[in-house]
Amino acid sequence: APRRWIVSASVANSTKREPGTQPIDWKSLLFSYVPTRCHVQYTYKDGAWSAASLEAEPFMRVHIGATALHYGQSCFEGLKAFHCQDGRVRIFRADENSKRMTRSSTRLCMPEVPEQLFIDAVHTVVRENIDYVPPYGSGGSLYIRPLLFGSGPKIGLAPADEYTFLVVVMPVGDYYKGGLSPVTAFVSEGYDRAAPLGVGNAKVGANYAADILPNQLSKKQGYPINLYLDPLHHRYIEEFGTSNFVGIKGSEYLTPDSPSILASITNKSLMQLAPTMGLEVVRRKIDIAEVKEMDEVAACGTAVVITPVSRVVYGDELIKVGQDADAVGPTSAKLYAKVRAIQMAEEDDPFNWTQVV
Ligand code: PLP
Ligand code: COI
Repeated sequence: APRRWIVSASVANSTKREPGTQPIDWKSLLFSYVPTRCHVQYTYKDGAWSAASLEAEPFMRVHIGATALHYGQSCFEGLKAFHCQDGRVRIFRADENSKRMTRSSTRLCMPEVPEQLFIDAVHTVVRENIDYVPPYGSGGSLYIRPLLFGSGPKIGLAPADEYTFLVVVMPVGDYYKGGLSPVTAFVSEGYDRAAPLGVGNAKVGANYAADILPNQLSKKQGYPINLYLDPLHHRYIEEFGTSNFVGIKGSEYLTPDSPSILASITNKSLMQLAPTMGLEVVRRKIDIAEVKEMDEVAACGTAVVITPVSRVVYGDELIKVGQDADAVGPTSAKLYAKVRAIQMAEEDDPFNWTQVV
């Protein structure tokens, strides 16, 4: 039988485990599933959330009529914890992920996960799996995946009466092989990621289901990352399948303004840092034709951090970005270094983005 217990202060504090002590080859981690000690789970029933339950089994019993399975009533988040230079473990901007999850859950008629519950869940599961946090200097981090879904049955279309909120963690490395090395993006012209007034701005499972095929087609042709254009004109840049688009043009930090893209917390952070580095943040529609004029392009997100994009395949065209398409652009490199330094507490955290576990 699975181990199941209610978290109490004594359980949560009794552990004497240290970050990076699991027998894992930290340097060869990629972004893929790795089993850990436990996840934390809550149930919403009769208008109230249950207490936290730590679950050792990575399986659960779900009703065959669950709305998540039939109708995609499901949303998730993604954030990271880091082992820092001072030996402590810090979580990056969990409050932002909590707020975004509420926007997603509201859109799908799911109950709100209260911010304090969300934060407690994240801290609890990280603390319980602290030995799975990749050690400082390895380049890895602990990826945190909160998930909220309708777990109660409905067959006529309606919101479920029961919900499950769980948070699972796993150690991860680079999303794209090679870390901070440039990738070629492929414009998925034949597909839209989202509809103009659809759910593109919510972090719901359905958006990712829609992206699996274009993403696979792109990968099969040798391009690890795909880019979407706006669903109305097929002309303006939206975002990559799993990250936001950033362009550097002179001293401008350019990023698309669109109602159907996800509000990336990484992008928000970079937009706060950019002015401190002499860049002007410009959010506007960006024509795909403008990529030719950009000095740098990057993908930004929790999983991909900041990944330089040096070439864009658009129909028959191969657009090279910047002067040297094989080098990492200096602004992308600087932004990357700055965010990582804050995340690892190598530098001050002037915006109070991190929280010690
Ligand atoms: N856009 C999409 C579609 C994503 O899946 C993600 C990943 O979470 C992002 C952007 C980046 O968001 P964040 O920086 O909050 O991780
Ligand atoms: C993240 O960056 O946290 C994401 O959610 C991307 C994921 C879909 C791979």
